[in-house]
Amino acid sequence: KKKFNLAVLPGDGIGPEVMQEGYKILNILKTKCHINFIINEYDIGGIAIDKYGIPLPKNTLLGCKNSDAILLGSVGGPKWNNIPDEKKPERGALLPLRKYFNLFANIRPAILYPELVDLSPLRQNIINSGIDILCIRELTGGIYFGKSNRKIDPKLGEFAFDTEIYYKYEIQKIAKIAFEISKQRKKKIISIDKSNVLESSKLWKNTVEMISKKYPEIKLSHLYVDNAVMQIIKNPNQFDIILCPNLFGDIISDELAAITGSIGMLPSASLNNENFGLYEPAGGSAPDIQGKNIANPIAQILSIALLLRYSMNLYELSDIIFQSVKIALKKGYRTFDISNNKKDYVTTNEMGDIISQIFKKEI
Ligand code: NAD
Ligand code: IPM
Ligand code: MN
Repeated sequence: KKKFNLAVLPGDGIGPEVMQEGYKILNILKTKCHINFIINEYDIGGIAIDKYGIPLPKNTLLGCKNSDAILLGSVGGPKWNNIPDEKKPERGALLPLRKYFNLFANIRPAILYPELVDLSPLRQNIINSGIDILCIRELTGGIYFGKSNRKIDPKLGEFAFDTEIYYKYEIQKIAKIAFEISKQRKKKIISIDKSNVLESSKLWKNTVEMISKKYPEIKLSHLYVDNAVMQIIKNPNQFDIILCPNLFGDIISDELAAITGSIGMLPSASLNNENFGLYEPAGGSAPDIQGKNIANPIAQILSIALLLRYSMNLYELSDIIFQSVKIALKKGYRTFDISNNKKDYVTTNEMGDIISQIFKKEI
């Protein structure tokens, strides 16, 4: 059977805890589905700083280069607050990794199944038929990668700046991805910008509009970001694909996580144009709950489902993982973050076991 090299980067905080549960799914894929995963684990983020003094060691990058995809936990945390910013886990490892592999397309599916409306903080009459929104976020441009600096002006004192810069070709690339994916969905894209103020946003809007001419069957509209975050709460089902620049997508995806249950359930795929992908939970290292065995492992498990879909074209297996998560939730199993009664919940390990057992039965 064809080999698939997977680099696993558990990272910091709850990263290794939820990755443990991810491994349960990977093992089933290996033993029951005969997928020939060759798995190598590497250090990234704070743990790499502790061991080697840098957040993205050469060996880790080399391991990723020699793999077909990356599965990541999360990086960062208060322990590394006092390190120079460009050497911190986020700016010294995660962003460079995204840039190195040109992972410009970040895909975050926010799904709330109709039977699980109680997971959402929104009123049931707002959600009614559940929620199914795909956030497509530009990931290697914008204000995250523009010029920035911190200086002292002799007269005015200390100042800092970050620059939002977008090249037309960057917007074209991510817009094309959105339109292509939209063909398989509701053929409706809402693009987010702040073009009433920002020049880079104007280019964004015009370029997305231009790309849309090649896709007459897909309905494109635009919202300013401030209105968009309000509309998402008021009437989430007017959205199918939300197409965002880097920073707006970061913010909006956390909002989508909240209305569909928890940031602990939102997976993400970061893709380039060569089917290479980095798969990770949309949330972070959650230092506030680290080491308590209460983190929700679902985002990590669903990130594996996205890996199957986007890097391996195993659509059916991918769907079965989503299905298994849904069944576990329908049966009433809830981790702490999504339990309504905070006394009655299953641990990280238990949720991983439950989903794995269901997955084994479903395949
Ligand atoms: P966070 O996403 O880590 O946590 C925000 C809140 O969500 C916390 O209350 C946390 O307990 C909760 N939460 C997150 N994941 C959860 C899970 N799986 N189960 C249950 N609850 C969960 O965001 P933050 O606190 O702003 O950031 C903490 C650190 O993580 C920072 O260093 C940040 O830069 C980093 N971070 C990393 C990534 C990544 O590696 N991709 C993503 C976001 C944040
Ligand atoms: C995310 C995270 C990262 C981002 C941080 C940790 C750099 O918040 O993946 O959403 O802002 O992209
Ligand atoms: Mn984020």
